[in-house]
Amino acid sequence: MKPKIYLTRKIPSEGIELLKAHNCHIVINPLDKPVNRKILLKEIKDADGLLCMLSDRIDKEIIDAGVKLRVISNYAVGYDNIDVNYACKKNITVTNTPGILTEATAEITLALIFAVARRVTEADRFVRTGKFKVWSPTLLLGRDIHGKTLGIVGCGRIGQSVGIKAHGLGMKIIYYNHSAKPSFEKKVSARKISLPALLKQSDFVTLHIPLIEQTKYLVGLKELKMMKRTAYLINASRGPIVHESALVYALRHNIIAGAGLDVYEKEPQVHPGLLKLNNVTILPHLGSATIETRARMAIIAAENLIAVLEGKKSHFVVQPRRDNHRRNR
Ligand code: DGY
Repeated sequence: MKPKIYLTRKIPSEGIELLKAHNCHIVINPLDKPVNRKILLKEIKDADGLLCMLSDRIDKEIIDAGVKLRVISNYAVGYDNIDVNYACKKNITVTNTPGILTEATAEITLALIFAVARRVTEADRFVRTGKFKVWSPTLLLGRDIHGKTLGIVGCGRIGQSVGIKAHGLGMKIIYYNHSAKPSFEKKVSARKISLPALLKQSDFVTLHIPLIEQTKYLVGLKELKMMKRTAYLINASRGPIVHESALVYALRHNIIAGAGLDVYEKEPQVHPGLLKLNNVTILPHLGSATIETRARMAIIAAENLIAVLEGKKSHFVVQPRRDNHRRNR
């Protein structure tokens, strides 16, 4: 009998074709929105494999319902949406898609840096609303990026790629990470420093750590107050790493200059305070959203599923230990 694979969303055709070529019985949520939980609980009952999104909460209840389930393939690098420990206890392999989305996520980080420093989204709104009447020497002045200090919090693959690109723009690089990255330091003349020192010295602070218990609310009001009043916070990792109400307060009271966000504490909800502020650029979690990257992610996610179902080794197995969260990003 063909193994049943349930896909919680339609993914690029490259991944679907691969699953078909491996003789899988594919069932896909037909709607262009997250699958309803009741439907997922029903579909998972006879599924051998699950291909899910970062927006699907794969908890004990779902895992228990999957009595035949052998593999959960997450269409993302981050896997805080899955109870990995519980899945592993039940001998279900969990996989992710690291590496291939490093550059795309680093690029969106750069896009946010440019957007906030040069007030790109604010300026776009200005023109669209008919306010551009005449050139002015003081209109919508932003901040230089070159010569400024970029503080990278979490120096894994994505953090390092951001650092390399930012170095090319003439930025000075400092970073905070559990371990030193000597070759990165050499490449971009970076310095490893403590988190408080990084917050105090950076003109741009960018977050590239996974969401685990220890990193939830890593940036709250205390940390925002350590930052320069002229500094910007960039978050393209996971929303709950930043205390969103504290950020709104800091932005409203000019405790920091601005923020560029791709992710939110209660995604897809965005704190209403953020929507009213001009000194913040907000994107709908687009980190890996390029045609090329999403196609590669579809292939890797499908390959991960096939490998486990065929009893082969998948390269991207997520380990239940917390420190592997860091290593795998
Ligand atoms: C991921 O894969 O974890 C990213 O957040 C997707 O943009």
